[in-house]
This record gives sequence, C-alpha cells and structure tokens, in this order.
Amino acid sequence: MRALQTVKGMHDILPDDMPKWHFVENLFKKISVQYGFEEIRTPVVEPLELFIRGIGETTDIVEKEMYTFIDKGDAHLSLRPEGTASVIRSYLQHNLGAQTSVLRVCYLGPMFRRERPAKGRYRQFYQAGAELIGASEPASDAEIIDFAVFFVKSLGIKEISVQINSLGDSDTRPKYKQALIDFFSNKRDKLCSDCNRRLELNPLRVLDCKVSCCIEARENAPSILEFLNDEAKEHFDELQKLLKIYDINFNVVPTMVRGLDYYTRTIFEIQGTSDLLGSQSTIVGGGRYNNLVKELGGKSVPTIGFAFGIERLLIMLGDNIGIDNVKKIFVAGVGDGDFERTIKISNMLRKAGLNVEAPYKMGSLRAQLKRASKSGAMFSVIAGEDEASKNEVTLKNMLTGEQVSVSIDSLADKIRSQM
Ligand code: HAM
Repeated sequence: MRALQTVKGMHDILPDDMPKWHFVENLFKKISVQYGFEEIRTPVVEPLELFIRGIGETTDIVEKEMYTFIDKGDAHLSLRPEGTASVIRSYLQHNLGAQTSVLRVCYLGPMFRRERPAKGRYRQFYQAGAELIGASEPASDAEIIDFAVFFVKSLGIKEISVQINSLGDSDTRPKYKQALIDFFSNKRDKLCSDCNRRLELNPLRVLDCKVSCCIEARENAPSILEFLNDEAKEHFDELQKLLKIYDINFNVVPTMVRGLDYYTRTIFEIQGTSDLLGSQSTIVGGGRYNNLVKELGGKSVPTIGFAFGIERLLIMLGDNIGIDNVKKIFVAGVGDGDFERTIKISNMLRKAGLNVEAPYKMGSLRAQLKRASKSGAMFSVIAGEDEASKNEVTLKNMLTGEQVSVSIDSLADKIRSQM
C-alpha cells in the first residue's frame, strides 16, 4: 500500500527541530510580557464572512488562497489565513474593550494559505503576532515597531531592513485609487490579466502583484504620500521622529501597500536582507487598521499590530541559535534482577525534577550504555546488585567516562550539582 504523506505545502515539525521552535516561541512570549502583551488563543476555524469582511473580498488571500468549506450543518467556514481578524472578532464577542481602554494581546499558531509552495512559503505556516487595540497615537505605532524589531534582533538576526509607509485615512484611498487608474490607463497591455481586473476592483493590489511585467509597469507610479490629509501626514512625520528616538533605522517605501485591505495610516515590514530567504524576504508584516473594529460591527477603535512567520525566522537563523540541550539521565541495570530497581530509581529521579529515560526491559549493560550515549544522555545511572546491597549506584559521566559510586539517597542532589 502507498505510504501516506503530508498535504502539499504542509510539513511535520520533527522532534529534532522542536528546540529551535521552542526557543523562538519562548523568546516571543518573554518579550511580549516585557511590552505588556497577554496571550489570546482563537479557533483555527472561523466563519468565512469574518475574512471577507475583515481582510477584503478582492485580496489574493480571500479570493484565491483560503481553505473554505461547507460543514455538515451548511455553515460556510474557513481555516484562518491570519490572526488579526480573529482577534478583533474575539475582542467584540467578549466585549474586551470594556475592561481596559488599551488592550494588548499576542498570539501564536498555525495559519493556512493555499499559495504556491516555495522556500519560506507554505500552505500551513506558523505566525506569532501582537495587536494593540485602543491607541491612536504615533507613539503606539513606534512602540509596536520597536517590539517587532527588538524581537527579531534578540533572536540574533542582524541582517534586516525596516520599511514603513502610510496609507492615510478613508479619504486618501479613493483619490489614490483614481491616480493609479489614471497612471495605468495607458499601460493596461503591460499588466497581467489579474491586474487588469484588479485595476477596476482594487487598484492598490496592482502595487503588490509579483508578476514581473507588473513590477516593471509600476515604475514611477504616483506616491500615496502625496494624497495624505494633514492629520495623517503629521502622524507619519511624528512616527519617523519617534523611530529615530528608538534608534531604529528605517526606509520610507511609498509603493508598499501590503496584501490585506484593512490597513489605514502606518504600515511596516521587516525584510531579511541576506539571500537565505530567496524571494520570501518579508519576515514581519504589520500596520494600523483603524476601521476594522467598526467593519466587524463595533465602535470606531484605533488598532495596530504585526505578525511574523516562524518558519522564515528559523530559515534566517539557520544553526545560529543558542539552544540548551535537554540534560537527560539514562538509568541502566546489569541483569533481570535489576529491573525493579531501575524503575524505582528512574521514578525517584523524575519526581525530583530530572529528565530521565527508563528501560522497559533489561539487556546487556554494553547495549544499554550505547543506547544512553545515542540518546545524548549526560549521565547514566547503573543500578547493579552489588552496589545496591550498600544502598549505592554507579554514576557515569557520559562525556568524560568517569564513574563514581553514589548513595541512592544523595543521587538526585549529586547529579544536579554536576549539571
Ligand atoms: P502578512 O504580511 O500576510 O500579515 O503575514 C505576516 C507574516 O507571516 C509574513 O511576513 C511572513 O513572515 C508570514 N507568512 C505569510 N504567509 C506565509 C506563508 N504562506 N508561508 C510562510 N510564512 C508566511 C498578516 O498576516 C497580518 N495579520 C499582520 C498584522 C497583524 N497586521 C496587523 N496586525
């Protein structure tokens, strides 16, 4: 029978890779607390309507990439392609705004987009993100960008560039859309067929089309920054001043639009500048989305956030990651008569808080020690009968080979003192 495989674009994360994942996830959780963010977990499955209303019907994500299905109760459901819309749904559903004027939440989990698989681009991938709900000041934009940059740098990733832009307020888009329609009107034959359609429905999307003819055609396209109202302009200027105070180097990229329709004012990305990521160089994407709460049925509440792809960070990190190996103890016996003792000693060491691999049956001591060294154990405890009669065991340091007799009562303390 043919062996079954994972779905295209989806991957197992195997035990050997897990320490790297835990390193990234734990650091994210630690830094989230430093910036005042608390974790929130939302379901992987949400109503399709949430993403149509939240992300935008004419975005690539909603148009082409979502895993949507009708369940047995005729509900139209989707696997979440991102976390922001779900967080805002949850914020409204549980009236979280009533508890505090500014809510800071972070999240971590699998997202699903049916994109063409490539290095750093998967159909199930993991995002960690943060959303700051209820603050409109440029200082909150700067803080969120600093959080994202500090996190990436704390991982040891130095080769990055920070790009920012402003998409202005609701009055900016219609004017800018018209300017784009005018700009592309005599270049329609140079745009891909999707972009010809996008030009009618959502011209901003032409700016993030990845087809090479469209990239060429948008050279010298008008800058959205010329269409900002005074308040949005002031907000963007203030943000740039604050980023300098935070000592963050950034580039203003007036053609950056991001792939989701909910953004207003500030948007930003952190790109990896080494060639490790190939064409998938964006590791963090985020921005302000002041209209989303209202669009999903709430009041007008200013919001900003970001999310990063854990796989892309791991590609950037390669082997440059400081992981403590799990310090493991292997318990071995000499013959069948030692079996009960090995179980008792393993049990005692585990209850004392140590990481232990216990045998399920006795084999030759040589074979057991070979297994211990293969498992990466730091120490082996040999529970032979002779020493047991003196209430002792042999403690073997697997690195140096040194062996000493240790009383069973002081075994856990002795191991801990040598770790
Ligand atoms: P996004 O730019 O669509 O933004 O995704 C954020 C990050 O998720 C990307 O920069 C990338 O690292 C990772 N990512 C996206 N798609 C894939 C994929 N197919 N395979 C691997 N990694 C991927 C958002 O999702 C927004 N919700 C961010 C946000 C939060 N904006 C405001 N708050």
